[in-house]
Amino acid sequence: MHIDILTVLPELLESPFQHSIMKRAKDKGLLKVQVHPLRKWAVNEYGQVDDYQFGGGAGMVMMCEPLAKAIEELSLSRKYDEIVYLTPDGEMFNQKMANTLSLNENMLLICGHYKGIDQRIREHFITREISIGDYVLSGGELAAAVLVDAIGRLLPGVLNDETSALFDSFQDDLLAPPVYTRPEDFRGWKVPEILMSGNHKKIEEWRYEQSLQRTKERRPGLPGELSPE
Ligand code: ADE
Repeated sequence: MHIDILTVLPELLESPFQHSIMKRAKDKGLLKVQVHPLRKWAVNEYGQVDDYQFGGGAGMVMMCEPLAKAIEELSLSRKYDEIVYLTPDGEMFNQKMANTLSLNENMLLICGHYKGIDQRIREHFITREISIGDYVLSGGELAAAVLVDAIGRLLPGVLNDETSALFDSFQDDLLAPPVYTRPEDFRGWKVPEILMSGNHKKIEEWRYEQSLQRTKERRPGLPGELSPE
């Protein structure tokens, strides 16, 4: 998968993809992330990419021209399956959306700043608007990093154990069960006996029950919790 990210703050995205699973995805050639500084398409030599909003009011708006030129130039190199704008008024990101987006070949992510981007760009170029939660970040960069991480780890071959993403929280609309590692007894706090039993069928049943209970307590209403047992 190839992901281009358009931003006024490329420095913010230097580190997130250089470590751990994202690094492995890159090293294996499964995911390529390219960060493009929007100021490359600025309207003047001062690097201007934003302006006051029509109608008055505080806050700058990201201008049409730099965004349109950047999108058009980048689109010459690849055909995007999605051109995503990260914005708090977008569709709420979740695991299902990550699964769907992980099937794409090429994506362009656009990070907003200030009051956001000119509405005309949203109407004429953007194919999908995504929010990562009901709170406002100072820009779309961290949201873009969240998207790339959640999507990148789903690409076949990225995780060591190919099946492990299947057991993540949310993959079956349930939260993940509790996990334990050595020692068996830490300060008198013991690992549940069932996990030591070697009975894989019973362990799976226990994990499922724990998942269900956790989901009921913490996220009542997730579809997995409502499904017939
Ligand atoms: N940009 C600012 N806040 C955001 C959010 N919650 N999700 C996505 N992009 C954003």
